[in-house]
Amino acid sequence: MSFIPTTFHYNARVKQLIAILFLVGNVFAAEPLPLAKVNTLIEALGRLDPALVNSNPALKERLNQVLDAVRGEPRSVALIKKFQVPDREADLLAVAAMHPNAPAGVEAMGMVLAGNGKKAVAALLTGKDAKQAAAVARALGNSNNQKVIPLLAPLVTNAKLHVNVRKEAVKGLANFEAGAKHLLGLAKSGKLPQSAKFTASLALSTVRWPSIKAEAAKVLPPLFGANAKPLPPVAVLAKRKGDIANGAKIFLREAVQCARCHKVGDAGIEVGPALTEIGDKLPKTELYASILDPSAGISFGYEAWLVTMKDGNAAFGIIESETDDEIFVKGPTGAVTKHAKANIKSRAQQPISLMPPGLHLTLKVEELVDLIEYLSSLKKK
Ligand code: HEC
Repeated sequence: MSFIPTTFHYNARVKQLIAILFLVGNVFAAEPLPLAKVNTLIEALGRLDPALVNSNPALKERLNQVLDAVRGEPRSVALIKKFQVPDREADLLAVAAMHPNAPAGVEAMGMVLAGNGKKAVAALLTGKDAKQAAAVARALGNSNNQKVIPLLAPLVTNAKLHVNVRKEAVKGLANFEAGAKHLLGLAKSGKLPQSAKFTASLALSTVRWPSIKAEAAKVLPPLFGANAKPLPPVAVLAKRKGDIANGAKIFLREAVQCARCHKVGDAGIEVGPALTEIGDKLPKTELYASILDPSAGISFGYEAWLVTMKDGNAAFGIIESETDDEIFVKGPTGAVTKHAKANIKSRAQQPISLMPPGLHLTLKVEELVDLIEYLSSLKKK
């Protein structure tokens, strides 16, 4: 067994030998790798020197089988890194997209950016799958790697993308001084799209560079509450504590309209997503964002569409379902209308949410804080 380096300590050598025998056994068998074995195989691979594995076809084959078996899992990242496995950018991106906030996801993104996977990333960011694009954008933003700035920057002004992709790009850019400056520059020159202003203002209000923060507060307009009084910044509001019971009453108040479109438990009408467990999903800052500027981010699956008929009529709402020849549109009142596809002239996804802006304008600041406290308390029992 000449491929075992002789410099190894005896014990390590025996362990390696066992690992190799275990790894190589049955390697070219046709059946897929039994999942139960994967853990042991990973452990065995952990004992081996990368140079050894990479110079041995059977071991290399085994490594690739293991990587295929754990594709998208955080533990695949360490293996790809240790053995410097080429052409695994898609796998790394899968981890980054699925675990954007986990160390393995962040590390995976760093590896893609260090290698030649940038093209693959750019394609995902502007690709058809908006949910995946948003997840990749978020992973980029969390990467602590300046190289992501040129990838994220063009997304902010690309009107063709889903608003959530642009939102993640804005949030990600604000994590870097150069990125935050870029956003500020866009805001100053009037090039920041309307739909990105709220997110930018929120993100820049919490950056750690005082001059950028101060300038942003001047350039991006403050939000107004009842009686056109300016609201404190969301980052400040989010730290306040409200009254849950009063918030629950406000949610049901006719003038505020929430229950006309949202269910909490069995109460309310379902136009938008049910809010029964919204406290688990969104932190307070995001809850404020969804009321103060609903179009700054739109829940996947609840995008608004404008369906125009050949007779000049139009339906605005969420496409609830469709068959081969009919389409069902749920409008802002919760009413569902049916339209024959043969009569449809065009359908276009709208850049705005079906949830109207300004619902908070009837509320005093304290009431808004109570409403958010209530939403934030809605969690899985
Ligand atoms: C005309 C219908 C309508 C009204 C009224 C309305 N919403 Fe919405 N809401 C929606 C729709 C549709 C969405 C999903 C699209 C989006 O994210 O903008 C949504 C999204 C949300 C979300 C984000 C949910 C998620 O899962 O991400 C929250 C939180 C929310 N609304 C709270 C409220 C509150 C609080 C009120 C009352 C102040 C309210 N909504 C009034 C339709 C409405």
